Amino acid sequence: FSKIPKVSRDLQSRVPPYAKLLTNLEKVHKITNNEPLTLAEKILYSHLTNPEESFGGSSGVSAFRDIRGKEYLKLSPDRVAMQDASAQMAMLQFMTTGLPDTSVPTSIHCDHLVVGKNGEEYDLPKSKDANKEVFDFLESCSQRYGITFWGPGSGIIHQIVLENYSAPGLMMLGTDSHTPNAGGLGAIAIGVGGADAVDAMTATPWELKAPKVMGIKLTGKLSGWSAPKDIITTIAGKLTVRGGTGYILEYFGEGVDSLSCTGMATICNMGAEVGATTSLFPYNDAHRRYLAATGRKQIANAADVALNEYNFLRSDKYAQYDDVLEINLSELEPTVNGPFTPDLSTKISEYAETSLKENWPQNISVGLIGSCTNSSYQDMSRVVDLVNQAAKAGLKPKIPFFVTPGSEQIRATLERDGIMKTFTDNGAIVLGNACGPCIGQWDRDDVPKDTKQTNSIFTSFNRNFRARNDGNRNTMNFLTSPEIVTAMIYSGDAQFNPLKDSITTPEGKKFTFKAPKGEELPQNGFEHGRDVFYPEADPKANAQVEVKVSPDSDRLQLLEPFKPWNGKELKTTVLLKVKGKCTTDHISAAGVWLKYKGHLENISYNTLIGAQNYETDEVNKVYDLDGKGYDIPGLMMKWKDEHRPWIVLAEHNYGEGSAREHAALSPRYLGGEIILVKSFARIHETNLKKQGMLPLTFADEADFDKIASGDVLETVNLADMVAKNGDNGGELDVKVTKRNGETFIIKAKHTMSKDQINFFKAGSAINYIGEQRRN
Ligand code: F3S
Repeated sequence: FSKIPKVSRDLQSRVPPYAKLLTNLEKVHKITNNEPLTLAEKILYSHLTNPEESFGGSSGVSAFRDIRGKEYLKLSPDRVAMQDASAQMAMLQFMTTGLPDTSVPTSIHCDHLVVGKNGEEYDLPKSKDANKEVFDFLESCSQRYGITFWGPGSGIIHQIVLENYSAPGLMMLGTDSHTPNAGGLGAIAIGVGGADAVDAMTATPWELKAPKVMGIKLTGKLSGWSAPKDIITTIAGKLTVRGGTGYILEYFGEGVDSLSCTGMATICNMGAEVGATTSLFPYNDAHRRYLAATGRKQIANAADVALNEYNFLRSDKYAQYDDVLEINLSELEPTVNGPFTPDLSTKISEYAETSLKENWPQNISVGLIGSCTNSSYQDMSRVVDLVNQAAKAGLKPKIPFFVTPGSEQIRATLERDGIMKTFTDNGAIVLGNACGPCIGQWDRDDVPKDTKQTNSIFTSFNRNFRARNDGNRNTMNFLTSPEIVTAMIYSGDAQFNPLKDSITTPEGKKFTFKAPKGEELPQNGFEHGRDVFYPEADPKANAQVEVKVSPDSDRLQLLEPFKPWNGKELKTTVLLKVKGKCTTDHISAAGVWLKYKGHLENISYNTLIGAQNYETDEVNKVYDLDGKGYDIPGLMMKWKDEHRPWIVLAEHNYGEGSAREHAALSPRYLGGEIILVKSFARIHETNLKKQGMLPLTFADEADFDKIASGDVLETVNLADMVAKNGDNGGELDVKVTKRNGETFIIKAKHTMSKDQINFFKAGSAINYIGEQRRN
């Protein structure tokens, strides 16, 4: 692969290692007898840590045909990006490995903790002040371990990644669910938890069940009012919030050619709303233009050679998708999705009638545009065209209008080109370059928080769960394109269809919007903006830097490595039998607890507070051996202090829901050793293994009824199980001692792989990784 051109020094950490990836892919082709591959497979399989192992050597061809949706891939991602809320626990875990630096280029982005209310000048200093210790911690971690630190006000993780790091064929992990935004530039980018990010940062193979691939065929051409946002809101309506689960969405077809790179990013960003593992587009001209406009023409040159000489970065001709969905862009209509779920999709032509039928508020209260999803130059230049049309007709917005730029680069470019001035001259409030109202950091004062009255907001964001934006469960957030949000602020009326209805101007004339026009990219290139918001590129680790964590902090706490297994049987007391559904929300509640994401002890006070006691039907109530009642974390703490290891029993699909690592960290921290259930949700089971817990399932579910709280459960042949090391699961005897002294043996099953047995022995995956890397 010698034809791949070299890039200059400043781009070396940003160009995917094409020659290495192609070498890997060549091995995969050999093993699979040149089976045609989708683009998603090519990028994923080119990142396999060891292709021969993944495809089972000589039986590779048949294994390959059966791999999607079944087998686990061990992958070596190229890059990691983390946002400020989730980076805290990721870095605390990384620190316990004792490693001097990260193995792959990594960046931290301070965006989630910045409030949006009155604009950057007012909001940014306040947010910096309120979160000083968290920002200082993340900055000092970055300096110590050689991580690129994008400070508060610099922009939103996904926009910055698109502008700087995403590239065709790259594989990236990000500790944020909208990480797939980078797929708009042809990368495989996956949202993960902190412990997974640590895998990548320590060059530990990262496991992913081989996703199925759904082809989304785009035909026709996008034009007029229709925007990239309408493509994904329409898809969300068709697939629903679960329809993409276990899939990568791979776009193809001639319709792709009418999209900008940033438009593709919007579409990939919101693939998260249908539950997809990630989404991506094939390398194309729009990517070349965007890479050139953002100072990365050399990367486009390298990608061109990878594509044209070596057939990378596009799917093979006869590649098979597991499903195909077709969308005709020429027939696409602007769509409004919500309230409370992103898959409730209503065409703009039907919105007025539906809103009456559904009793949605007829007065729209606020319009918000921008965020990581929709703050591109194309979005904003189309929006400002509408603002100019309205201003020319003498119209002013009828409701408050907020604009959130995604990065300093895009903000400065919009300012240079007069777009920001047009916004502010027409009453918009431009917020700082951060998440703000999109993540509930909206100090909203036009609607009382505790009101029972519903109100509706129109946003170009990506999520609209209850209370997400302003903490008010009665705020209905309708997701739509920035163009539709903007047109609606001039009417404020749910009955208004901007595509055909008119507004009366102050002079009494009828005004109708013309379809917006904009530019894909700024004619004069992107503006750099204020230096203060830019980090040092490719910083070197500096072991002299002290990582700042105050011992008095209630938001940050250094992690003590969990103790390794002592080689003895585990002897545990049943603290709780959980009744029915127990999701990661029941195990580790979010909401007010998010503040403590970097403080394991404080956040652990939420452990299992949503769980129902099987024996009493009470929620968050358990009883000590002397019959005294406690809340669940309270008794866990007490038993931890008394050195009484505990076990929790539960029913089916324990730990379903989001992949929240605190749901495994907290039980381990509070002295839990075994979770024994009828069945697990897979990701949670893996998370427990990563934290050194022993997740077991009943071989005979009827045994659940034979055990009560206070009984003692002791493993019988744990040493044997550990010694077998690598059986990928097996059985284990557990001796039950009832409180009346009666004893009997039950059988439990485990699914530990060789690596996971090593995690257990070392005390946690992080301990094991640290040991391996240090040796
Ligand atoms: Fe931030 Fe909202 Fe995007 S929270 S990362 S702007 S989805």
